[in-house]
Amino acid sequence: MSHGKVKFNTLAVHGAGMPDLSKIKPVSIPIYQSSEFVFDSAEHGAAVMSGQEPGFVYTRLGNPTSQDFEKRMALLEGTDEGISFASGLAAIAAVMLTYCRPGDNIISSAPIYGGTFGLFKDLLPKMNIEIIYLPAKDIHELLSAKVNSKTKMIYIETPANPTLDVVDIAETVKAAKKHNLRVVIDNTFATPCLQRPIEMGVDIVLHSATKYICGHGDTMGGVVVGPKAEIDQIRPMAFKNLGGSIAPLTAWLMSRGLQTLPLRVERHSQNAMIVSRFLEKHPKVLRTCYPGLESCSAHQVAKKQMSGGYGGVLAIDLKGGREAGRKFQNNLKLCKLAVSLGSVDTLVTHPASTTHLAYSEEDLASVGMTAGFVRIAVGIEDPEDVMADLDQALSKI
Ligand SMILES: Cc1ncc(COP(=O)(O)O)c(C=O)c1O
Repeated sequence: MSHGKVKFNTLAVHGAGMPDLSKIKPVSIPIYQSSEFVFDSAEHGAAVMSGQEPGFVYTRLGNPTSQDFEKRMALLEGTDEGISFASGLAAIAAVMLTYCRPGDNIISSAPIYGGTFGLFKDLLPKMNIEIIYLPAKDIHELLSAKVNSKTKMIYIETPANPTLDVVDIAETVKAAKKHNLRVVIDNTFATPCLQRPIEMGVDIVLHSATKYICGHGDTMGGVVVGPKAEIDQIRPMAFKNLGGSIAPLTAWLMSRGLQTLPLRVERHSQNAMIVSRFLEKHPKVLRTCYPGLESCSAHQVAKKQMSGGYGGVLAIDLKGGREAGRKFQNNLKLCKLAVSLGSVDTLVTHPASTTHLAYSEEDLASVGMTAGFVRIAVGIEDPEDVMADLDQALSKI
């Protein structure tokens, strides 16, 4: 587009005008780093704004790079559409606030990620929305007794963070559908590579994209996918009211992450299996929990509903409790002491001396942990190196 002869300040703002983008064919989608989009005419603006014509208006409401990530995500989960967010928690909040009104309740599996628990505890009661928790392994059997006319959804997280409890997805869907209830799943740990909730009848799938989707521990994001009818309900709450939309650069990084997701998740899963078999026999370890281990109580259900592996996260109980956890962390050399998971690096968290420092043994037990509980999010390094590092740190406790 040419703008004719203009003066210096105008030149500084407009430069040479936009190139003809229809003539440029990059291999990877451009990062549409623009907060607003130009209309061709007053009529075009009116048509796009009113939804009569497809198009983009304002990046909080939608952006071509974000849309690429959303479409890719919906395709991988086997559903129609998606919407992306600045974080996983923003995605969860948008879903809750779309469907729940004062007086309603939701039934959730327990345990769930601590940040989600915090959102439910701090925000939802203020709006007079009640959360009823049921244990992950029994939720499908117990939910009918708890459902009432105010129940709006069944929310499940499986495998759960950090204890790796597993919900029987198909049975939970069956029980929920008897009451015409929507099922929402947090599929962050498994990803669509290993677990396909939509095929099991789940209505809405969400992720902390910060984890395996990003894959490199450098970017925050969230995503919700589902049938068009559901996404059309969530979108106005997400983008018009709450506004926690993803940034275009972030969406681009997430799309790039998705291109290698199957490769990375396969390696994370293989490594976690090898490392958990090693830890299961280690004399300093009381108990190893990984859904892929036959000795893990969640194994049978995990085997039924996951394929291609069991993910990258495992948990152990150290002999020697809190002090053992502290020494173990301080002696690690390769594995990093950090919250989060899904990164190429192996990340280790000992809740009793970090995230749950203020918790007594009883408090820890109430959230399914012990003082010696350690979560290990196995990366994609050579597993021999990860095991050697864990082994030398374990030998010091
Ligand atoms: C299972 C799960 N869901 C949701 C979240 C929240 O995601 P975010 O930290 O991207 O807001 C997390 C974060 O750790 C998580 O582990």
